[in-house]
Amino acid sequence: MIRTRIKELLNSTAYGEEVTVKGWVKTFRNNQFLAVNDGSSISNIQVVVDFEHTDEQILKRLTTGAAVAIKGVLVASLGKGQRVEVKASAIEILGDSDPEKFPLQPKKHSLEFLREIAHLRFRTNTFNAVFKVRNALSFAVHRFFNERGFIYMHTPIITGSDAEGAGEMFKVSTLDFDHLPRLEDGTVNYKEDFFGKPTNLTVSGQLEGELAALAFGNIYTFGPTFRAENSNTTRHLAEFWMIEPEMAFYELQDNMDLAEELLKYVIRYALDNCTEEIEFLKNRLVEEEKSKPQQERSELDLIAKLNFCLENDFERLTYTEAIAILKRSKPNQKKQFKYLIEDWGADLQSEHERYLVEKHFKKPVILTDYPADIKAFYMRMNEPDEQGRKTVRAMDILFPGIGEIVGGSQREERYDKLVQRMEEMHIPTKDMDWFLDTRRYGSVPHSGFGLGFERLVLFITGMTNIRDVIPFPRTPKNAAF
Ligand code: 4AD
Ligand code: MG
Repeated sequence: MIRTRIKELLNSTAYGEEVTVKGWVKTFRNNQFLAVNDGSSISNIQVVVDFEHTDEQILKRLTTGAAVAIKGVLVASLGKGQRVEVKASAIEILGDSDPEKFPLQPKKHSLEFLREIAHLRFRTNTFNAVFKVRNALSFAVHRFFNERGFIYMHTPIITGSDAEGAGEMFKVSTLDFDHLPRLEDGTVNYKEDFFGKPTNLTVSGQLEGELAALAFGNIYTFGPTFRAENSNTTRHLAEFWMIEPEMAFYELQDNMDLAEELLKYVIRYALDNCTEEIEFLKNRLVEEEKSKPQQERSELDLIAKLNFCLENDFERLTYTEAIAILKRSKPNQKKQFKYLIEDWGADLQSEHERYLVEKHFKKPVILTDYPADIKAFYMRMNEPDEQGRKTVRAMDILFPGIGEIVGGSQREERYDKLVQRMEEMHIPTKDMDWFLDTRRYGSVPHSGFGLGFERLVLFITGMTNIRDVIPFPRTPKNAAF
């Protein structure tokens, strides 16, 4: 028995047609009105149950969460809020749901609570919308790059190198923890643990991506990456997805242009293709804003905010210029931004980033040419400035409400300078010949960046916690299932 998806029925005008609906019961009112959802739409279809001719046992089993198959006729609805409904002729219960144990109530649940019930979280309107937008964005990313001739390159998850040199890696082990090899002093020998070699989960596919770019020209990766940083924030995950394009013959300007074009393309795509979901998420936010004091409410709704991003060029300036702006700024009355930066050379904290984006420029910002000391080893070194300060050709894109959404750079393509930099930063070059070969045989200027996929989904859905835009969040406190 082939089913018709509810989304299709809700848009249908084929009154009188016999249809089959399969899905899950949302509510059952007055022994008569059954709201069924099959995941295809945020909206439910109303099924009118002929209770006089329906087995009493079946009526009792029409509980929230139960799976049902319904045969009936599509009719125009007289009820408010829906155009069509299904007049049921046969109801079959496919899977019961015990009302005594079912954890969701008809009332609204907190997002924190829903995270604890992974299965039912997917059945809520909010997560239906969020994960549909996530799906559409993932498709849009692939479409963007494929339209431009980029090759999707699968880079490894298990690797022996630390692409960021930040030491935030999860070790991979083939060891049986009950029989760990011990050193002489009795401590565990973690050094040789992947069939005899030290390995970790990748923090970034960039280094492998560089090899591919210097052969294919333009490539991108899009896969899970892992960071063993103990950050319990609304912007960090231990496992997140990253999109990393890498382009031969691109300099920093070209890199910025591509990143801005990509971001605008995927926002446009979501607005055009997820209208039902984004409208729902916008209204959800409007409701949420109502609980805030007037002056803290956002001036723009979600859709206006997304359109605003599309209509304006991102502001581009150097780190040094940004520091000058921050130094001139004064902490505001509400102490919302305690941003006064100490000195040139310090890394920007999220309050600094938010000040630049939300208060000063009021639009997305691309910061370039950061101090070399606070950036990764592979970034191309600039000539020292008049004061002899060292900067690299880095670029970070900062978004309102998010902070850093993209991090990238032009790469150091000069072999001697790269090796010198690695040595200065204590990056072992011993096992890196596979990477350094790119600088030995036909090295060219090249650039790339990493876009944090969840931060993108966060921005476009207007959700506030990154855990609520990934189906199974992995954070220091949550990795059980
Ligand atoms: O700035 P990051 O660390 O840059 C890299 O990994 C480079 N290898 C990218 C490249 O040039 N190919 O990370 C890039 C982006 C950040 O801007 C942020 O959006 C996201 O990845 N990100 C995280 N997202 C969620 N949770 C975390 N713990 C994240 N760490 C970085
Ligand atoms: Mg970064």
